[in-house]
Amino acid sequence: MEKKEMLYEGKAKRVYATEDPEKLIVSYKDDATAFNGQKKGTIVGKGVINNQMSNRLMQRLEKNGVPTHYLQELSQRETLVKRVSIVPLEVIIRNIAAGSFSKRYGVEEGVVFDQPTFEFSYKNDALGDPLLNTSHALALKLATEEELAAIRSMALRINGLLREFWSGCGVTLVDFKLEFGRLSDGTIVLADEISPDTCRLWDAKTGEKLDKDRFRRDMGGVEDAYAEVMKRLMEHDD
Ligand code: TMP
Ligand code: ASP
Repeated sequence: MEKKEMLYEGKAKRVYATEDPEKLIVSYKDDATAFNGQKKGTIVGKGVINNQMSNRLMQRLEKNGVPTHYLQELSQRETLVKRVSIVPLEVIIRNIAAGSFSKRYGVEEGVVFDQPTFEFSYKNDALGDPLLNTSHALALKLATEEELAAIRSMALRINGLLREFWSGCGVTLVDFKLEFGRLSDGTIVLADEISPDTCRLWDAKTGEKLDKDRFRRDMGGVEDAYAEVMKRLMEHDD
């Protein structure tokens, strides 16, 4: 399948049309941003790792009955996906306090929750992706009640599957962000990516950060951390 015109360029990916109106090609860049695009940089090799990691995780989720946009890996950086219209919500699941949760509620990073938390942000760069609840999402007509219920139950199921998988790789899944989309028949599927850009991944033994927080917080060793989680995933993947 060949790339045709570019439909969209985001902070980390480009999306291209193909000859099939139901299929798109996603191309992963090495560009990294943080804090709503205020911090910019490059993580060399990130596009390759995020593409391959996201595809392997989505295939694993599909095997476990979670519908995703994934169709076929075309090259190191490019993947064929089902065309969706993205539900403009960032769906965030947390197992351990970190990041904006720790800041907002004054909780030390690393506090383990009895149950995962679930939250939405409004995917809107101009507004800085504000936190919102289900009634706000309904008022803004971002999704229907049925869609929000489906998204919630899929996100919690994905958390269970990914936690177990990462745990087998010696990695703790602290939190992550998902995006969902609608196929042309309205079915909700998992879209976007699952990668160290969108997850907090800590070494299970040492607590070392193996994700984009190393870039956000200027910790150094960003490329090595991405390579390390990719290596662990490849060793464990069947
Ligand atoms: P947060 O603690 O900054 O709210 O982030 C929660 C999770 O969501 C974390 O794993 C990083 C991910 N995330 C994104 O993928 N994109 C974003 O724009 C933000 C703010 C967070
Ligand atoms: N994707 C977000 C941005 O560019 C940042 C993040 O992942 O923290 O601003």
